[in-house]
Amino acid sequence: MIAEQGHLPAIKQVPELQIYALYDRNFERAVELQQHFSVPHAYKTEEEFYSSDIDAVVICTPAPVHHKNVLDAAKAKKHVLCEKPLAMTEKDMLEMEKVMNDAELQFFIGFNYRFSQSSIDIHRLLRERAIGEVRLLRLIYNWHLHGKWEINEDGEQVDTALRKGRMDEGGPLVDCGVHQIDLARWWLESEVEWQHGIGVWLDTYEAPDHVYLHMGHDCGAHTKVEVSFSYNATSRDPRTHFQYELIGTDGVIRYNREEHSFELRNSHGTQYLPWHPEKSFAGMYREFAKALASGKPGDMPTAHDGILASRIARTATEEAIHNRDNPSRNNPSSKMTAADVHVHADPEEIPIDFLDLPLKLKKSRDRQPGRSLSPNPAKEKPGGSKDT
Ligand SMILES: NC(=O)c1ccc[n+]([C@@H]2O[C@H](COP(=O)([O-])OP(=O)(O)OC[C@H]3O[C@@H](n4cnc5c(N)ncnc54)[C@H](O)[C@@H]3O)[C@@H](O)[C@H]2O)c1
Repeated sequence: MIAEQGHLPAIKQVPELQIYALYDRNFERAVELQQHFSVPHAYKTEEEFYSSDIDAVVICTPAPVHHKNVLDAAKAKKHVLCEKPLAMTEKDMLEMEKVMNDAELQFFIGFNYRFSQSSIDIHRLLRERAIGEVRLLRLIYNWHLHGKWEINEDGEQVDTALRKGRMDEGGPLVDCGVHQIDLARWWLESEVEWQHGIGVWLDTYEAPDHVYLHMGHDCGAHTKVEVSFSYNATSRDPRTHFQYELIGTDGVIRYNREEHSFELRNSHGTQYLPWHPEKSFAGMYREFAKALASGKPGDMPTAHDGILASRIARTATEEAIHNRDNPSRNNPSSKMTAADVHVHADPEEIPIDFLDLPLKLKKSRDRQPGRSLSPNPAKEKPGGSKDT
């Protein structure tokens, strides 16, 4: 998905780069992309792919595959840009970094939020002390992960494969929140000294649906990250909520994706800044091309940045999970099982608008407790992100 929607169209926009070859374990998929993006080669095996005349590899496979992919790329002497999260465990991430370093290859992570013009503007404004001393960052990304349900081949309403995969890979903070963690470190130019993670469960996955992360930076500033995969996930008309607020001793910078607003308010007045989408794949690839040509990372986020963000996200998620069954004033956490979710709908009660959708309803006695009847069209509003 993200190769087609983000990476391939962006590489096409950068004259210094050429998409030379594709490999996907599903060869038909590789051929589909080859035709769509006019790529010279699509290969059936990884051996053929790595033996082709490529200089670097962009890894857009699911997270559990990244470790093997990076080790293979190092063996074949190819530079790497790998999607986040870098890997599933700390051990794997450190091994990937070591193997790439030992092979003297460049190794970057796809933190494309850094390259949004709005992110670049925030970085500049903080350096210019436009809001004085920065004290607090509030970074929010609440969304529905394209909805909760899909209909399987037996006509049953089940969790989407995307939801299952992403929740099983660590949930919202590990999957999406790593971008916000990276932005906080990059904007503040300050490392995270301590952290605290709190989870809220709407469902029965191990990972929480909704996560709060509180980080303390060595500059004294605080960052609060809030990420959800289940915000409006069963709503017929889902909305997302994506916002940055940076609070300093002299003012506030506010960015809101849904409102397309971006403003600076301080003692000098109010400045309305040009709004840009929250991520830029093309910007990332322009910087990647420079890094490949110069041999220097420049502003590219490195594997080290990826490791730090993943470590923070995973530790906070694990802390939230650990506290789930023992909530206290100091460790507030809330768990709701499917059995706790109030189900009120009978097939007869389904709003008329749903009836033309391809939903095969089972008899209510067959339905699992907690299963909503909303078929979840889960289409993004214009301006909303289609991915993570
Ligand atoms: N940075 C972002 O904005 C962003 C957005 C979405 C997804 N992502 C990340 O991108 C990665 C891919 O996500 P996606 O949603 O595109 O996944 P996807 O499942 O839609 O696509 C993954 C592709 O990899 C192929 N694949 C799976 N295993 C393979 C293997 N062993 N070897 C070769 N090919 C294999 C699949 O056939 C599929 O075509 C994930 O790490 C995800 O977190 C990043």
